[in-house]
Amino acid sequence: MPSEYRLILKYADQPDYSSDLECYLRHSGYEALKKALAIPPKSLGDGKTSSGPEQIREEVRVAGLRGRGGAGFSCGLKWSFVDRKSGKPIYLICNADESEPGTFKDKQIIYKDPHQMLEGMIIACYANDVHLAYIYIRGEFVEGAKILSRALKEAREKKFLGRNILGSGYDLDIWLHRGAGAYICGEETGLIESLEGKRAYPRIKPPYFPAVLGLYMCPTIVNNVETLCAVKHIVAMGGSEYAKLGTPNNTGTRIVSISGRVKKPGYYEIEVGKATLGQLINEPAFGGGLREGRKLKAVIPGGSSAKVFKAGEKFKLKRKGPDGKEAEQEMDMLDLPYDFDSLVAAGSMSGSGAIIVLDDSTDIVEALSNIADFYAHESCGQCTPCREGSLWMAKALHRLTHGEGRKNDADYLVKIADNIPGGRTICAFGEACSWPVQSFVAKFKDDFVAKGARDEERREQAAKAAAVEASAPESRAGVLA
Ligand SMILES: Cc1cc2nc3c(=O)[nH]c(=O)nc-3n(C[C@H](O)[C@H](O)[C@H](O)COP(=O)(O)O)c2cc1C
Ligand code: SF4
Repeated sequence: MPSEYRLILKYADQPDYSSDLECYLRHSGYEALKKALAIPPKSLGDGKTSSGPEQIREEVRVAGLRGRGGAGFSCGLKWSFVDRKSGKPIYLICNADESEPGTFKDKQIIYKDPHQMLEGMIIACYANDVHLAYIYIRGEFVEGAKILSRALKEAREKKFLGRNILGSGYDLDIWLHRGAGAYICGEETGLIESLEGKRAYPRIKPPYFPAVLGLYMCPTIVNNVETLCAVKHIVAMGGSEYAKLGTPNNTGTRIVSISGRVKKPGYYEIEVGKATLGQLINEPAFGGGLREGRKLKAVIPGGSSAKVFKAGEKFKLKRKGPDGKEAEQEMDMLDLPYDFDSLVAAGSMSGSGAIIVLDDSTDIVEALSNIADFYAHESCGQCTPCREGSLWMAKALHRLTHGEGRKNDADYLVKIADNIPGGRTICAFGEACSWPVQSFVAKFKDDFVAKGARDEERREQAAKAAAVEASAPESRAGVLA
């Protein structure tokens, strides 16, 4: 039976562990940074050498680390895109916006082990020749911002930050920036605009890929909090050792936030792909199963943007058999390994690692209405399909949840959702707001149609009664008399 594998959260919940620097140092804190700074240039044998920073980048590539912020993009590849010849400064931004509904993992790191995040950031900055970096933290994380401010001060005092870090000759400072609390500030180009002091309007890609034209039009790396923590462990243990954790192409550990109708909602760190979706929901080591007498209805496997799975849904996935050969295998959604690739192959995604569990007490139309309200509120409004479409979907769902639905609302919703994404919008928010609607309606169409039909029937009956009343005023007068 799989259990938690705590690498990043190793100390986080221990009773004697605190967020201050002294405690971090007692637990081998900043040792990976010392190791990173001491890596000597390596001869490559053909007259060329690989610098310490280049070797760290290579270790991250070998580790197979994929971003933990949502898209699961290769961290090594992202770093390789950085324009290192532009002559402009290279910036790094730690994305601590954590805005995807259902996700509450980064805040655990920030609140409980801020120096681990700083150490990962400093190493990533050193590896990429960054001398000024930013932490963009969501405005509502007031306590988190205070903790990080203190941690930054402590790190500066002990020379882990600032000029000539630990006598290495390397200079770096990190600034903390508090956002004003908008989902779109988590999208990397919206975040960059916000950091520049503007409204968080995402930028169009191309040309504004952060690795080339990011903050102040300079090459910029944006990485998630958890991704940067993993960098520290990759340096500490070596890329190939890190790659032994998890499963092929889905290496390392990740922190999964489990919420909704389970007995033990919470955050759990696992080796990627070593536990199935069902185990994460049902095992005592994780979600602990549904409440007594309840049945599973649906699971949103990767934050509110991810396409929903229906209980009992089956998928055909390519798997390696005991003979090492790939064959198609049918599996229940609960048997899907919780990794990046399996969930994508099943038509959804593990996204920000947030599993939201819905049981048979959940009104599926209400649940989608709640999600759609969020997206309608959070659309930045630049693109017409997203701005208007998200609102129209929310309005249609309001109709359905307030007794004003129509029989064809289900089709209407899908028609709108189908016309938002697919290159019609500047950023991936277009997909994020469409996927829940497309998948909820496709998989639970009867629930939507039944509500709309019931409302229409009620309205028709009311109209008929009104017509009868209107056509026979005398008889009504007679009754009243
Ligand atoms: C609408 C939207 C919201 C996002 N919110 C977050 C967020 O809160 N935190 C985050 O790390 N990434 C978020 N992302 C993903 C970022 O754009 C970016 O891909 C990520 O920070 C890169 O880090 P990673 O490669 O380490 O995952 C969001 C993306 C979109 C489209
Ligand atoms: S897709 Fe939506 S959130 Fe993204 S830029 Fe366009 S309007 Fe803004």
